[in-house]
Amino acid sequence: MLDVQSLSKAYGRKQILKNLSFSVKPGEVIGLVGENGAGKSTLLHILATLSNPTSGTVMLNNHSYQTSIKKIRKRIGFVSQDIALWEEFTVKENMIFFEKLSWNDKTNEELRQLCSDMKLNKWNDTVKNLSGGMKRKLNIAVSLIHDPDLLLLDEPTAGIDLKSRKEIGSYLSSLAKAQDKMIIYTSHDMDEIMQVCDRIYCIGDDPFYHEVLESYGKNPELL
Ligand SMILES: Nc1ncnc2c1ncn2[C@@H]1O[C@H](COP(=O)(O)OP(=O)(O)OP(=O)(O)O)[C@@H](O)[C@H]1O
Ligand SMILES: [Mg+2]
Repeated sequence: MLDVQSLSKAYGRKQILKNLSFSVKPGEVIGLVGENGAGKSTLLHILATLSNPTSGTVMLNNHSYQTSIKKIRKRIGFVSQDIALWEEFTVKENMIFFEKLSWNDKTNEELRQLCSDMKLNKWNDTVKNLSGGMKRKLNIAVSLIHDPDLLLLDEPTAGIDLKSRKEIGSYLSSLAKAQDKMIIYTSHDMDEIMQVCDRIYCIGDDPFYHEVLESYGKNPELL
């Protein structure tokens, strides 16, 4: 379980996140929405241990972010808004490279299976020749190599076609359910968020978002 209590983040005088408290249970997919600049990526970076909150506490499976950071990092998978892959390497070489860096031993067959679970069947293609959607899928596959409990994805479906978006969405929901993973992901596509997520958190107080979400018949939980 992920438990966030009274989390705030300021950059200088600029207060971005104000006193957020929420929790996520194993098996849940959480959609994080809000206008550009609301603080979605900021929150994901804090949850990924890449930046510190100004105040507040975060616990993952009863381990505190303040005292058990090494343990926690092994339990987290993070895919940033920008793609982070070796462009000159093939899909296979990327998977093997990141497997060596991870804390897990996986066979090539298992790595290949992770890619085909994502409907990415381009094992021997060079990454620079893949489409944007395929690179996203590969980035997600890489983030799963060490079997994290908490998967954080910043706009994994931005700028990719409907078919790949659906494939990624249904993969994420089945992954959460089948392996009891906690998934938090951001997207600006409300239809997709409604389909994939068990719960929705809305950051910021822009009434526009609240109205849109209510028009979908879903009350967002406000952060
Ligand atoms: N390192 C930083 N220093 C100062 N301000 C920052 C820094 N990183 C982010 N910000 C500011 O924090 C605010 C939140 O940014 P963030 O990237 O978290 O928003 P977002 O909700 O992810 O937006 P988007 O939908 O555009 O991705 C923005 O006003 C941004 O300018
Ligand atoms: Mg962002």
